Amino acid sequence: MSAVILAIESSCDETSAAVISNGKVLNNIIATQAIHQKYGGVVPELASRAHQRNIVAVVDEALKISGIKKHELDAIAFTRGPGLMGSLLVGVSFAKGFAMGLGKPLIEVNHMQAHVLSHFIDDPKPAFPFLCLTVSGGHTQIILVQDYLAMEVIGETQDDAVGEAFDKAAKILGLPYPGGPLIDSYAQQGNENAYKFSDTDMPGLDFSFSGIKTGFLYFIRDEKKKDEKFVEKNLNDICASIQHQLVKMLLKRLEQASAKTGIKEIAIAGGVSANSGLRNKLKELAIRKGWNVYIPKVEYCTDNAAMIAMVAHYKYMNKEFAQLDVAPLARMPI
Ligand code: KG4
Ligand code: ZN
Repeated sequence: MSAVILAIESSCDETSAAVISNGKVLNNIIATQAIHQKYGGVVPELASRAHQRNIVAVVDEALKISGIKKHELDAIAFTRGPGLMGSLLVGVSFAKGFAMGLGKPLIEVNHMQAHVLSHFIDDPKPAFPFLCLTVSGGHTQIILVQDYLAMEVIGETQDDAVGEAFDKAAKILGLPYPGGPLIDSYAQQGNENAYKFSDTDMPGLDFSFSGIKTGFLYFIRDEKKKDEKFVEKNLNDICASIQHQLVKMLLKRLEQASAKTGIKEIAIAGGVSANSGLRNKLKELAIRKGWNVYIPKVEYCTDNAAMIAMVAHYKYMNKEFAQLDVAPLARMPI
């Protein structure tokens, strides 16, 4: 069955469109919203308005570059959730209007499933079953993936996401949003054992990042009382140490999940999987444990429509179409 699908992503602060033809992603257009930088975080109302401004141009560009005419599309896919309601609404409404105008079916996609399927955009592809550590600004989950569309969350954060912990630590250090990539770059020049931060013990395979965030806040506050230039003088070491502890917390659970399930096919996905500390430590652990690890290209780690297109492709094959009255879901379990 041939399938040419236009996919749209608008769950947070990235407006993106991609075209997929028979399982091969032809392009991945992303408009990042710079407006949030000056507010130190994503402002939902501004994100929604920026999606409205960008979406037509982004979709046009995706169609133009792929050389696909609108009438050649077999379906229109969109992120239904989870995400910010105002942001999701823009993509969902656009997709509905577009599909209705063309008389084509709609495909709804779960954003977290899409992060997992980002591993099927390029080679090498993991073999089923595999474990996927999905780490972003909104989520921290360990997912047991049995098949393209059959997956189960076996561990997740009970409070903040790890990306949020990176961003909040950066904010405490006076760095702009999103701070995760900046912590990563300063960390590369620092000593990861300079300062110690503690883990919060959680049951099973779950995570908690609120304790380390508060601990970090108090640590910086107290050190600044002793020396107001503490952060400027020690920025590299501070970033390396907090990153080291966050990565350690992630890998500890991943190691336990592998031991519990006996699975050695290990993937990471989501914005934080771009982190060089996580990538390097995961590769080291893989050698010790005999794991095959899969790390997506940076372009497919952060939010993008190519991964939405991947899920849409498999749903199209199963003829899983959405109704025209489908509504976005801010919370949407896998
Ligand atoms: O998947 P994503 O683009 O959006 C969400 O669905 O949340 O992830 C964004 C998150 C932000 O918290 C950002 O700081 C973090 O991913 N991030 C990083 C790095 N690159 C992006 N965190 C640490 N190191 C990085 N290199
Ligand atoms: Zn995401």
